[in-house]
Amino acid sequence: MASEPRRVEHQQTDKGYVPVYTTAVVDQPWDTYTAEDHATWATLFKRQREILKGRASREFLDNQERFGLAPELIPRFEDLNAVLGKATGWQLVGVEGLLPELTFFDHLANRRFPVTWWIRRPDQIDYIAEPDMFHDLFGHVPLLLNPVFADYMAAYGRGGVKAHGISPEALVNLTRLYWYTVEFGLIREDDGLRIYGSGIVSSKGESIHCLESPAPNRIGFDLERIMRTRYRIDTYQKTYFVIDSFEQLMDATRPDFAPLYERLAEQASIPAGEVLDTDHVYQRGTGEGWSRDGDV
Ligand code: PHE
Ligand code: CO
Repeated sequence: MASEPRRVEHQQTDKGYVPVYTTAVVDQPWDTYTAEDHATWATLFKRQREILKGRASREFLDNQERFGLAPELIPRFEDLNAVLGKATGWQLVGVEGLLPELTFFDHLANRRFPVTWWIRRPDQIDYIAEPDMFHDLFGHVPLLLNPVFADYMAAYGRGGVKAHGISPEALVNLTRLYWYTVEFGLIREDDGLRIYGSGIVSSKGESIHCLESPAPNRIGFDLERIMRTRYRIDTYQKTYFVIDSFEQLMDATRPDFAPLYERLAEQASIPAGEVLDTDHVYQRGTGEGWSRDGDV
């Protein structure tokens, strides 16, 4: 019998936080989840579902329903794969922790989404530095049911393999795109701004902060601008980028990025919190309304 999968986490050393990478693909050891693991899933699930009403995008909430995600028990990847395979051809694969970049890109390019098999400990309920099953499943998997977003993720994987072969700088540019869309993206819906980024939907604090706090900038999607913008991994984002639709994301990212990477190599990066004259900034109006400068 194959050995039990490991739980691979970062290490705290005298040099601080050190991420640890692993390439293994593992079967979800569902029978090994403890009552405490299921309870952690339940707590997080109920709390986020409540917070996300009226905050997460329609597509995200509807798709969670389609999976029949429920609070009581940690889902079985097998059950989710049956739904997902039929809808968009994606499959979840279990992993032990963070993957090296190229391994990650290769999975995405082949419509395999890596999901961490283990869930955070109770003392990590409110914050965990790395992706765990709650972030991966609750946050990422719902949008894989959307055909346009599903294509975007696979295209990103192919683009990652390509950028990896170009230069480390190209990879930095591409990673920023993932960060500001897949992980921390906002979308404009008819009745206001909504969340679709996985890093936001799996975080209680940031789900509220990104929409309600006056502190962060909310800027209209702009591919080159995003690829130049630095980001923080240890605090709430200082800037969120807002798409109009997943089609917009797909259309903007369809062209070959190679010439873009060359152009970007000549340009300075933009600090996470900066606003440029050319940005379309969203402002909260009275009531639920949002308006964007440059709109008539
Ligand atoms: N068009 C990009 C390229 O040529 C690939 C890509 C698509 C990257 C979608 C990200 C998202 O590299
Ligand atoms: Co993620």
